[in-house]
Amino acid sequence: MSTSTAALTQYENILVDRHDAVAVVRLNRPKVLNALSPQLMAELTQAMAELDADPAIRAIVLTGSERAFAAGADIKEMADASLVEMVYRDMIGVWDRLRQVKKPLIAAVSGFALGGGCEVAMMCDFIVASETAVFGQPEINLGVIPGAGGTQRLTRLLGKSLAMDMILTGRNLKAPEALAHGLVSRVFPVESYLDEAIALAKDIASKGPMALRVAKEAVNKAFETSLTEGLEAERQRFYMLFATEDQKEGMRAFLDKRPPQFTGR
Ligand code: CAA
Repeated sequence: MSTSTAALTQYENILVDRHDAVAVVRLNRPKVLNALSPQLMAELTQAMAELDADPAIRAIVLTGSERAFAAGADIKEMADASLVEMVYRDMIGVWDRLRQVKKPLIAAVSGFALGGGCEVAMMCDFIVASETAVFGQPEINLGVIPGAGGTQRLTRLLGKSLAMDMILTGRNLKAPEALAHGLVSRVFPVESYLDEAIALAKDIASKGPMALRVAKEAVNKAFETSLTEGLEAERQRFYMLFATEDQKEGMRAFLDKRPPQFTGR
């Protein structure tokens, strides 16, 4: 990695580093393949909220280890839970906070991204993968179904047929198949996938923060609304950006034939 790193808040189940304007959040329970315990998810969502509020950070990379991004929700933690406990705990309510992150959030996945691991990756804005990445929703083999968006996001991303196939059989997709079907945007060698993801995040971090924020909102509208509503939301945001200094700077820099300096104003 090309830049110095400085640790932020210390957590027990995740590691947070800075690489200039990019934060890298690493899931860190290697003995259980980064199984997503309630404590890990509480730390992860807290760290994300902190980084989202930090003006020095302009993009975030979420990663795991080479062997596992995450092998799912922690089965040990929920195996004996009753329905009433599951409802009151509302485990997934905490996970859902990842949707509130306003800055670009890239998942850098190597190894297993199964169950909740696949679902957390899909909560990010997009996924880049190492050649060894494996995606799947094996919950059917545990007598349950995906609970953190798998039935919804996988279906929107891959289409009904492949999503049904994966969710009903529990079969996994390897990186090339995930790339072919649009679940991931890029695949890199395992030795370099994290550096590549950080470089990608740095490139994104050099763009105008306000334009990034509304671009993310607008693309997400495509997931959640009709085409007419989505187009209207996009158009309003496009016009709105003409109130920003970054729009003036970006267009003036193009005409002056120089790189833009975006400030987020
Ligand atoms: N929860 C808790 N512990 C887990 C785990 C999980 N999801 N996945 C792996 N581990 C633990 C294993 O129990 C094992 O611990 P011990 O050494 O103490 O036995 C350790 O991690 C290493 O795992 P394996 O020995 O199984 O490693 P492997 O290389 O043989 O297999 C694997 C890897 C195929 C990923 C296998 O571990 C596996 O199938 N894991 C479970 C995957 C799964 O079913 N995920 C869905 C969880 S439910 C969910 O996520 C619900 C939701 O939608 C929110």
